[in-house]
Amino acid sequence: LSQENQQSLSAYEWLTKLYHHLLRYTKDGKEGYKYFKDRGIDDETIDAFQLGFAPNVKDFTAKFLEKKGFHQQILVKSGLLSLQQDNTVTDRFRGRVIFPIRNHLGKTVAFGGRTIHNQEPKYLNSSESELFQKGRTLYNFDLAKRHIRKTNEAVLFEGYMDVISAYQADVKNVVATLGTALTESQAKLLKRYVDTVIICYDADRAGIEATYKAANILQDAGCSVKIANLQNGNDPDSFIQEKGADAFRNEVIEASDTFITFYMRYVKKDFNLSIEGDRIQYIEKVLRKLATIDSSVERELYLKELSTEYNLTMETLLNEISKYRQEIG
Ligand code: CTP
Ligand code: MN
Ligand code: MN
Ligand code: MN
Ligand code: MN
Repeated sequence: LSQENQQSLSAYEWLTKLYHHLLRYTKDGKEGYKYFKDRGIDDETIDAFQLGFAPNVKDFTAKFLEKKGFHQQILVKSGLLSLQQDNTVTDRFRGRVIFPIRNHLGKTVAFGGRTIHNQEPKYLNSSESELFQKGRTLYNFDLAKRHIRKTNEAVLFEGYMDVISAYQADVKNVVATLGTALTESQAKLLKRYVDTVIICYDADRAGIEATYKAANILQDAGCSVKIANLQNGNDPDSFIQEKGADAFRNEVIEASDTFITFYMRYVKKDFNLSIEGDRIQYIEKVLRKLATIDSSVERELYLKELSTEYNLTMETLLNEISKYRQEIG
């Protein structure tokens, strides 16, 4: 590790403790503490994730770290301070609750800061650095790792609060992509630890689109993919807070769909199934996907569904799919 990166890690370690301490034990951090309490997060969880609060003072962090002997230049590079036009520095995180983002060794390498007064942006992250690349990081991977190994499954969320609520609800094999699209690098990381990944993104338009993309990337990385059963605008955190831990486990995670079932539903939106031409195209598209399934038993189950739904004989469907399977080779 370069001297600079060591300094940067050290700064993040100091600040993780400081922000957490402020939130937990001081008047200055009280509004942050209250924010998490109002969202149903208890002390034990606040401690496990070292959640914190950065005061709304423009140079609180800069001053604190300066006194500790850190060089401004390094702190700017680490994404903690912003360089102003007049060459002075200001704190990047002000008046926000803080989510430390840890690397796989459990060291904080970045912060996510959420506004508690409806300011824009809702979330602000440390800028990328040598130690923190969004596309290579999975939030909570360090804590989730042993649970992921034990269950041979990982649950993939969009955001910090989803991970934290699930963890508090005792579903601990959980990680998040931090809002961005899942990358190949993140998929490969997961594949090293699990066979099955359950995607549990927000049940809104953006979440469903992202689910489709992530599922394909995970499948390409060799993972078996399931899609959690979250409905109408919920996100995992809001579901858990509303319906509780048991409902989340039983109705969302345990009730996951296979990728194919999700796929059949998802691609429907591109077709008008009351038109015959569209219907044929849709069925062919689905058959192409089904052709990629290796298990003939599994293939047949989906073919039966299609056969019933679109009033086609199994013979026709089996003939058609065997053509596609030959194409794949
Ligand atoms: N995100 C981000 N920057 C934004 C919005 C979102 O980095 N401006 C990331 C955050 O990691 C966030 C995740 O994307 O946790 C998911 O976004 P969203 O669903 O909008 O946020 P929630 O986690 O549901 O936020 P909250 O429940 O706190 O409102
Ligand atoms: Mn603590
Ligand atoms: Mn979202
Ligand atoms: Mn969300
Ligand atoms: Mn949310």
